[in-house]
Amino acid sequence: MKEAKRHTITAALPYANGPLHLGHIAGCYLPADIYSRYLKAKGKEVLFVCGSDEHGAAITLRAKKEDTTPQKIVDKNHAIIEKAFNDFGIEFDIYHRTSSELHHETASEFFKDMHGKGAFIEKTTEQYYDEENNQFLADRYIVGTCPKCAFDGAYGDQCEKCGSTLSPTELIKPKSTISGNVPILKETTHWFLPMNDHEKWLKEWIETGKLDGVQQHDASTWRKQVIGQCKSWIDNGLLPRSITRDLDWGIKVPVEGGEGKVLYVWFDAPIGYISATKQWALDNNKDWEDYWKKEDTELVHFIGKDNIVFHAIIFPIILKSHGDYILPTNVPANEFLNLEGDKISTSRNWAVWLHEYLEDFPNKEDELRYVLTSIAPETKDSEFTWKDYQTRVNSELVAIFGNFINRSVVLTHKYYDGKVPAQGVLSDYDKEVLAAIEATKLNVDELLAAYKFRDAQTEAMTLARLGNKYLADTEPWKLIKTDEETVKTIMNIALQLSNALSEIFIPFLPNTSQKLKGMLNSNGLTTLPAEHQINKAELLYQKIEDDAIEIQIEKLKATAVNQSNPKAKPMKDEITFDEFTKMDIRISTILTAEKHPDADKLIKMTVDTGIDERTIVSGIAKHYKPEDIIGKQVSVLINLAPRKIRGIESQGMILMAENNEGSLAFVSPEKVIDNGGEVR
Ligand code: 2FM
Ligand code: ZN
Repeated sequence: MKEAKRHTITAALPYANGPLHLGHIAGCYLPADIYSRYLKAKGKEVLFVCGSDEHGAAITLRAKKEDTTPQKIVDKNHAIIEKAFNDFGIEFDIYHRTSSELHHETASEFFKDMHGKGAFIEKTTEQYYDEENNQFLADRYIVGTCPKCAFDGAYGDQCEKCGSTLSPTELIKPKSTISGNVPILKETTHWFLPMNDHEKWLKEWIETGKLDGVQQHDASTWRKQVIGQCKSWIDNGLLPRSITRDLDWGIKVPVEGGEGKVLYVWFDAPIGYISATKQWALDNNKDWEDYWKKEDTELVHFIGKDNIVFHAIIFPIILKSHGDYILPTNVPANEFLNLEGDKISTSRNWAVWLHEYLEDFPNKEDELRYVLTSIAPETKDSEFTWKDYQTRVNSELVAIFGNFINRSVVLTHKYYDGKVPAQGVLSDYDKEVLAAIEATKLNVDELLAAYKFRDAQTEAMTLARLGNKYLADTEPWKLIKTDEETVKTIMNIALQLSNALSEIFIPFLPNTSQKLKGMLNSNGLTTLPAEHQINKAELLYQKIEDDAIEIQIEKLKATAVNQSNPKAKPMKDEITFDEFTKMDIRISTILTAEKHPDADKLIKMTVDTGIDERTIVSGIAKHYKPEDIIGKQVSVLINLAPRKIRGIESQGMILMAENNEGSLAFVSPEKVIDNGGEVR
């Protein structure tokens, strides 16, 4: 295979129905950005495209829930997503959107061309229909019990509890989410992509990288999970797949009989890469076709694993049946990133949101890039924890990379007024370090070309570690007193290594690289000549303190939503049995009760605890009248330190249960218990 002349890099279009979280970034956008920056730094011609995926039933459903329009939902989220990408430094050449006119036109033409070529079949099938609202129900508009795990909130296309892919007719007790009624089955006609007709070439293409016997790509460079998922789909037999829907939000089906129907979101979304390219070409006076139709273009789709089939089977079928288009050279899909021991879930709000990270950790984009690449889920699922984030930043970026650079620059100023000293005679150690610089450049390059971002970054960090060790071993700060000549050589090598790091880290840590190049005054220099003047030292990274991490862990727990009861407050931190037994809770009877003279919300009571009679003040006046509670048995925490409440000392606390709406009830024994009976 010849070397590519240009590169079209795509990153999955995120749905504009919510913000981005770290799983999205680690899974797709960060590796895509690293790859694009890597090629650009090598002087390659690269186009890196993305945009918001703004169609589909998930968005109309959200609009219904929030009592607004789909357009308002996508406008709001598109802006939030685009800003987060910008702030974080994911450097697309264009960030487009599928609600744009150009995209509607492009996808519509694409469908018409394929239709004209006989690439689709029309089929009439029975689908769920809501009689009250006179409409067919898209998969997401039907909920029911999951046939696999019995979860009763599963959608027509997927159960979010167990992750199974479903079809609406598999749901037990289906219900329309619009009317709440049981839907009926009614006939409707749709256009289908006859995927079964494409099995033969797809199998050869996936397994060998050949198309009609001609080598297109090297299949051995594709990730195992990508090949594995595709093979298992193909081996199970491909079926015709419907590419239109009965929905009113999306791209109208542009052929006869298409009234009231739109293109399936998964048909138009990948075409979004093409319309983004068209827009970019218009803005930059380029020919978009070079990027999609020329054999010497390398097309690479970065995605998460839930998108594999769409990018490695369905979209290639679409491109090939349309004709004239190239197929992807690779589809480097990542596995999933978990968070603090659990799956990331937007519905349970178990996620670290990118825009919140950027607010909470200003100017720490590279720290997050570093950690997410260190744990990139390239071959299997991996996990982000805040403690691990802190450890990697403090003990790798601060203590190794940052420390090495700081020592190199500070000592150069101290001994040589910031001028690079000349190299003298080289020791074996010096030669070893210089050789490691060259070897690292080559290794990192090879690993990046093979989409092994995690290993590539580890290699780069290994070089920083070597630099740090080199200074620690040679101790120029001691040697300066006895051997000035050798120190010159050491410092020269340390500066060459620093400069190499500023180059090697460009794709991974772009802000750091820029800052480092500024410090070394080294833009455009692959080696630093003797007498070259460098600038003052600035710290590359700051330590992350424990309290910043604790705040994040607390925030995550406090804002998580319990899916089976979204209003339930999250569980508090675990306690030991000993801690529990410190509380002395007794069944007591209320003897007297009256309104607090100075506070509307409070009732003052005397209770018989079985041990004594005591006064308790409680904020329950909104929920009970004093005369109604006399004689009731309740639970009282009797060893709580007395506290004055509006001037009256309360000697204990009555336990109350609170429901979701905030109304209170006593926690009372379900049969009469002697006063003083322990609650345990
Ligand atoms: O899974 C998703 O988030 C989809 N919106 C990805 C679409 S990728 C492409 F086809 F546009
Ligand atoms: Zn399920």
